[in-house]
Amino acid sequence: MAAISTSTIEDGIGVLTLDSPPVNALGLHVRRALADGFAAFAADDTVKAVVLICGGRTFFAGADITEFGKPPVEPTLLTVLDSIEASAKPVIAAIHGTALGGGFELSLVCHYRIAVPSAKVGLPEVHLGLLPGAGGTQRLPRVVGPQIALEIMTKGTPVPARKALELGMIDALAGEDSLRADAIAYAHSVLAAGEPLRRVRDREDKIAPARAQPELFADFRKANARAFRGFKAPEAIVKAVEAAVTLPFDQGVARERELFRELVVSTESAAQRHYFFAERESAKVPDLPKSTATLPITTVGVIGAGTMGGGITMNFLNAGISVTLVEMTQAALDRGIGVIRRNYETSAAKGRMTSAQVEARMALIAPALTLDALAGADLVIEAVFEDMAVKQDIFARLDTVAKPGAILATNTSYLDIDAIAAVTSRPEAVVGLHFFSPANVMRLLEVVRGARTAPEVIATAMNLAKVIGKVPVLARVCHGFIANRVMTVRGRAADALILRGASPQAVDAAITAYGFAMGPFQMLDLVGLDVIGRGSTERSVRGDLVALGRLGQKQNGGYYDYDDQRRPTPSPVAAQVIAEIAALHGINAPISPDADDVVARLLYPVVNEGAKVLEEGIAIRASDIDVACILGYNWPVFTGGPMFWADTVGLPQIVAGLREQGIEPARLLIEKAQSGTNFTR
Ligand code: 3HC
Repeated sequence: MAAISTSTIEDGIGVLTLDSPPVNALGLHVRRALADGFAAFAADDTVKAVVLICGGRTFFAGADITEFGKPPVEPTLLTVLDSIEASAKPVIAAIHGTALGGGFELSLVCHYRIAVPSAKVGLPEVHLGLLPGAGGTQRLPRVVGPQIALEIMTKGTPVPARKALELGMIDALAGEDSLRADAIAYAHSVLAAGEPLRRVRDREDKIAPARAQPELFADFRKANARAFRGFKAPEAIVKAVEAAVTLPFDQGVARERELFRELVVSTESAAQRHYFFAERESAKVPDLPKSTATLPITTVGVIGAGTMGGGITMNFLNAGISVTLVEMTQAALDRGIGVIRRNYETSAAKGRMTSAQVEARMALIAPALTLDALAGADLVIEAVFEDMAVKQDIFARLDTVAKPGAILATNTSYLDIDAIAAVTSRPEAVVGLHFFSPANVMRLLEVVRGARTAPEVIATAMNLAKVIGKVPVLARVCHGFIANRVMTVRGRAADALILRGASPQAVDAAITAYGFAMGPFQMLDLVGLDVIGRGSTERSVRGDLVALGRLGQKQNGGYYDYDDQRRPTPSPVAAQVIAEIAALHGINAPISPDADDVVARLLYPVVNEGAKVLEEGIAIRASDIDVACILGYNWPVFTGGPMFWADTVGLPQIVAGLREQGIEPARLLIEKAQSGTNFTR
């Protein structure tokens, strides 16, 4: 990736422009160009001040993530930053797009920062399992104070320019279209003021008060313990900010360096970096040429205003796309629209949106009671209950109503899309758009490609995901597609394990210790034991609990008993039911697996199913399975998802573990274990 740098001198102001697509990451070429550009301006007496600006879509988006794990090459980012900070001439960073990570750290060594109103600045390293490693943990607290710095760095959310100005992260706003000229004018005003150069490293005003409040850090840790669980980076960030407050600047930087080095070689960071690239990779479809046309989607129809239909609708309303929402009865329609309104009003009450925004979104809904209302829709998404006959009936009718070129999508979770497409005269227009519940929150969108789905329809669906803030993963047709299919295996293994004598609480404890927010039985109790279909008529623990009126937290407890604060305790009734079903199945060789054993028994089969999904071509790549599990089932991102995790465990061990459990490993898994290759690296 060759960096393009341009230097010009305008009326005493040296303007250094860097342009290294796509995001001006600070790889070696860019660092060299920066070092050379600054050295040239330093040596040129006609240059009185320097403006640093980027071409393309953004200011520097951070260090080059692909360089992590490789030996550092000079000039390193720290070397470049030190030399800029030491410049005897004022340096003004002119920011557009996103100044992130090393990019924002670079701006913090400049003496002034000016940004366009649409810009965002921040330190998102925590999402890569890292801390800001180019002085950010030492400089940001000096700019905004330790408390706000901790929040910005442990959340990793970029700060919009206006807010950044309020916080002092930038010094001025430029015009949206006049950044360069405004930055040059700013440089002139700095020269005219003739003040000594301001270096963030020398500032004490924001950190001095924190020296008198050592409890600040313990309080912060306590308040965020739940959110930080399992991650290494947040604690390292807290330690680094403590160092910023208690140590001289250079020692603080050394401490930051030490902590960064520990993180960069950690499995957690490798997993999160894997996820960063996996999420971007999942949108790419190798057999679709980049030139594949997409279809314009300006009006959408949703059939079914239940929980799924309502959540799906909200995604489009949020993106400003109008939705014709169809239900069978006025009462169902009113109920569905009422739920959508309540969701928005709750957000408004929390200050996340204004009442005018609530009304604007509600105004985008066109309620309807017949499919005829969908004649003008560019895309129709069917979200009625899981019944093939019902879905086929709807699609046959929709086929006669929808305009030519419209995309006909089903939100089925398990059913055969080709069988649904077959009742229409246009199977090429039929695709699966599988949202995860709650559909307005969960970021995964499985795009399911039928045998005859047209390339334009797939390309449109993949693009559309981005428009509505989802991450698309492309799947082919099978029972459960990717996420549901592989995760169902975990549920089955958990059911089998309690019949063999492990308690639901032991299973849940092992799975939460692994990193999930909840174990499978806690989850069932939360969503309701009656909500998920039983699947078979055979007697089962869940079926018997439901028959006893134990529906979970909402009614009489489920696998656990609950007090009136919904605090769980082990349930003797559930234990009795488990013992009865075990006896019925003739299971009488109880085992008491430890936590590692529980993880192996629940999650190795998921890896195995993932291998089958790959082998069968249901998923394009292993990392797509990781993305689907992380975003669809909250699989802990610091493990990288099931396939990355399997690679870290070692595939021979997974194969051996499966065999011990009496499960035949998938062919692909055996092949990879034998050849010493892996799924994701
Ligand atoms: N290093 C290497 N490649 C990067 C990169 C980085 N920092 N940031 C983005 N890219 C790549 C992406 O992988 C993608 O590649 P592809 O086209 O081959 O898939 C391409 O640039 C475009 O990225 P996006 O698709 O994400 O583009 P968007 O326009 O949607 O988003 C962005 C732009 C907001 C800048 C987003 O890319 C982003 O969030 N990047 C990462 C920012 C980040 O985490 N920075 C911190 C890096 S770590 C660091 O700086 C350590 C320091 O403290 C020492």
